Amino acid sequence: MTTDDPKKIVVLISGRGSNLLAIVRAMEKEKWRARVVAVISSTPDANGLAIAAAAGISSETINVAHFPDRVSYDAALREAIDCYAPDLLLLAGFMRILTDEFVNHYAGRMINIHPSLLPAFTGTRTHQRALDAGVRVHGATVHFVTPQLDAGPVIAQAVVPVLPDDTEEMLAHRVLEQEHILYPRVVRWFVEDKVKMENGRAVLSTTINCPADFLLGVAS
Ligand code: GAR
Repeated sequence: MTTDDPKKIVVLISGRGSNLLAIVRAMEKEKWRARVVAVISSTPDANGLAIAAAAGISSETINVAHFPDRVSYDAALREAIDCYAPDLLLLAGFMRILTDEFVNHYAGRMINIHPSLLPAFTGTRTHQRALDAGVRVHGATVHFVTPQLDAGPVIAQAVVPVLPDDTEEMLAHRVLEQEHILYPRVVRWFVEDKVKMENGRAVLSTTINCPADFLLGVAS
């Protein structure tokens, strides 16, 4: 490929697909030099598969239920992904813990969105845990994926205030709204070669307006 070729993106999902939709919409509206070449789901009933179909994106399911263990699943997933030779692999609500071998294969070109201000609240049920902890701010993080769960270099974060009467649903809703701004913005940086992983850190181009461009929510 030449540097002028559109970047090829593969998106991995397990469910709703709202971040996938936000990325596809931003890509079309802002005319990025990029293309989602495939959506791959870990389960056949993910709503995100319908979003891919509506957008004319090819999709497939590598069903976790058909594999005896993590190693065989990740090997099949990797084979499916590599058919598309992606420049960027996006985890968008892909609810699987990946093997080190898989993660290392995509080092520097696999990113994830997580619904908390990492390193706080890794894992699941992040919104309820933020409420239980009594934190005043919560949010979402986009980071490079490395073998340790939810611990890769942070690229950008969106901050959301925690309000006195918040329920888990209310907080989740406000965080998700920010995810839909944050994730497309970071993917666009990648498409424009403005972000890379170097020596275990996310390095951003100096053309990115700091901090407003990478601290969304309170700053935007
Ligand atoms: C999003 O909130 C995303 O941050 C979270 O799953 C949701 C997927 O929603 N990801 C994780 O929890 C990963 N650890 P979506 O399918 O509508 O994009």
